[in-house]
Amino acid sequence: MTSGATKPKVIVLAGTAGTGKSTIAAKLREIFRTKYPDVDFLEGDTVHPPENIAKMSHAIPLTDDDRWDWLKKVSELSSQSAQKHSGLWIVTCSSLKKKYRDLIRSHSPETDFYFLFLFADRLLILDRITKREGHFMKANMINSQFSDLMLPDAAETLASTVDVDGKSVEQVVQECQADLKKFVAGN
Ligand SMILES: Nc1ncnc2c1ncn2[C@@H]1O[C@H](COP(=O)(O)OP(=O)(O)OP(=O)(O)O)[C@@H](O)[C@H]1O
Ligand SMILES: [Mg+2]
Repeated sequence: MTSGATKPKVIVLAGTAGTGKSTIAAKLREIFRTKYPDVDFLEGDTVHPPENIAKMSHAIPLTDDDRWDWLKKVSELSSQSAQKHSGLWIVTCSSLKKKYRDLIRSHSPETDFYFLFLFADRLLILDRITKREGHFMKANMINSQFSDLMLPDAAETLASTVDVDGKSVEQVVQECQADLKKFVAGN
């Protein structure tokens, strides 16, 4: 559990497929372990119901109705994990539309969620995805993700975007750390 009045915190690594959410989540976990020894991360895609996984494996884009229960689960599991594990948890979840983020937040109001978007343009993502194997995300789902993508604007609190184009993993990690500094420090 957390100490004092600090709310449990969840960092959501957001963005379209192939932006580096899983890669960066693993790096941030190592960095934040000095302050939060039990922090780990959940791959949001692993808690999709089987019907959603079947659709995605056939490159059929999910509808919003397919997503609501899954988003609630992502919210619940990561909030509970933050409470159980030193007050901080990390989850990867594309969170493309603002209404998805709002549902994650409103479903676990006891927890603060920070949406950290990783962004790269469609061509870079297509290049990465087509090179990658062993993943259910098909290249032809990328267009649908880009048409859904609604990056957080200045009015959305506890959210920011890191442009990953042309940056090494280390550079991206540094920018993410800078964005998260205040959130993770608990101020
Ligand atoms: N900054 C970077 N520069 C170059 N390659 C990167 C960078 N970040 C990640 N990658 C590579 O891009 C690919 C996609 O990264 P990763 O699997 O972390 O993305 P993801 O957002 O989790 O994708 P998905 O949504 O499909 O799970 C991987 O092969 C990873 O090694
Ligand atoms: Mg991933």
